[in-house]
Amino acid sequence: MATFNEKKTCSQRMENFGRFVWNPDTGEVLGRTFVKWVYISLYYAAFYVIMIGIFALSIYSLMKTLSPYEPDYQDQIQSPGVTMRPNPYVDESIQLFYNMFDNTTYSPIVNSLCDFLSVYDAANQTKMMNKDCTNQTNIASILYSSANLKHACQFTREMLGNCSGEHDPTYGYKYGKPCLFIKMNRKIKFTPGNNTTPLVQCTSKSQNLGKVEYYPGNDTYGTIGIQYFPYHGKKMQPNYTNPIVAVKLLNPKLDVEIEVVCKVLGPGIVTDNPHDPYEGKVTFKLKIENKNPLSIKN
Ligand SMILES: *[C@@H]1O[C@H](CO)[C@@H](O)[C@H](O)[C@H]1NC(C)=O
Ligand SMILES: *[C@@H]1O[C@H](CO)[C@@H](O)[C@H](O)[C@H]1NC(C)=O
Ligand SMILES: *[C@@H]1O[C@H](CO)[C@@H](O)[C@H](O)[C@H]1NC(C)=O
Ligand SMILES: *[C@@H]1O[C@H](CO)[C@@H](O)[C@H](O)[C@H]1NC(C)=O
Ligand SMILES: *[C@@H]1O[C@H](CO)[C@@H](O)[C@H](O)[C@H]1NC(C)=O
Ligand SMILES: *[C@@H]1O[C@H](CO)[C@@H](O)[C@H](O)[C@H]1NC(C)=O
Ligand SMILES: *[C@@H]1O[C@H](CO)[C@@H](O)[C@H](O)[C@H]1NC(C)=O
Repeated sequence: MATFNEKKTCSQRMENFGRFVWNPDTGEVLGRTFVKWVYISLYYAAFYVIMIGIFALSIYSLMKTLSPYEPDYQDQIQSPGVTMRPNPYVDESIQLFYNMFDNTTYSPIVNSLCDFLSVYDAANQTKMMNKDCTNQTNIASILYSSANLKHACQFTREMLGNCSGEHDPTYGYKYGKPCLFIKMNRKIKFTPGNNTTPLVQCTSKSQNLGKVEYYPGNDTYGTIGIQYFPYHGKKMQPNYTNPIVAVKLLNPKLDVEIEVVCKVLGPGIVTDNPHDPYEGKVTFKLKIENKNPLSIKN
């Protein structure tokens, strides 16, 4: 304590500091002998190498668990959502309203359908090297491209029958017999229950909906071929095109609003989730007017 309070001259302080940096009596440098310095350096070097090693190892093992072929988090709904084209979304509901007499009310719809369906042109499907899977028993071998790359099954316009746009470029809108296209959203690795082809059916509580025809399908159900499942993801299957079902309304009642629900039916496909109205089904309102705008004016 006494020495602490002792007043030192400046030269004494300098000398003390000099001894601290290099003490010729003990051979210490900065308070430690050379050998001690070597040891402490080795200790810290080893310490940091191990820390970096642990960090690198944890990053590496994290990256290993993330597959580039699948999203890391998938939503918890059991079955894919269902959407419809055209998709005129108004006031939180889908309202397909148009006037047969006034082509300006439906030509935007028809144009959007043309765009939507262009990917199904046979030429586009061929260009994308999608394979014809009809009547094939070993789909996996047809779709094989390389270990991490798969082709997809073709879905072509011809499968849409009278809704292909080939004979009627207005997809029936002009004649009050509109075509709708039902699509199940992609869900990686989703296969319908029991390998059963999912069916599509559109119904209404009222009789006004009239007769319906499905392509591919018949006059009761549309079919989403099982060969299109499962989808392997964008990276592994870059050219996958969604199968769709065309729904042709043959004689819907005109000038009334009709509420229609189109469901995808099959084992394991949920259509009654109160929290997600689009899980397994799509609901919309339809109203086809048949009023000559000119006659209204007169
Ligand atoms: C609508 O019909 C009129 C008369 O038939 C025609 O001149 C016009 O080009 C059509 N418009 C569209 C967008 O198809
Ligand atoms: C499909 O082919 C047409 C021409 O045949 C082209 O205009 C269109 O962009 C193609 N669509 C896609 C999605 O490749
Ligand atoms: C996807 O389509 C492109 C052409 O659009 C083609 O070059 C490519 O080979 C296709 N990939 C597969 C896996 O079929
Ligand atoms: C698939 O098989 C059915 C009957 O087995 C036949 O009618 C149909 O033409 C075949 N389709 C193709 C594309 O070969
Ligand atoms: C398509 O429509 C025509 C009448 O417009 C009808 O004769 C034919 O049977 C329909 N095709 C199919 C596959 O239902
Ligand atoms: C329509 O298709 C469904 C599903 O493929 C089938 O179960 C049903 O028997 C068919 N109905 C008629 C009338 O062909
Ligand atoms: C699959 O079929 C079996 C027997 O036919 C049935 O018990 C099971 O519930 C089915 N699975 C689904 C998801 O419907």
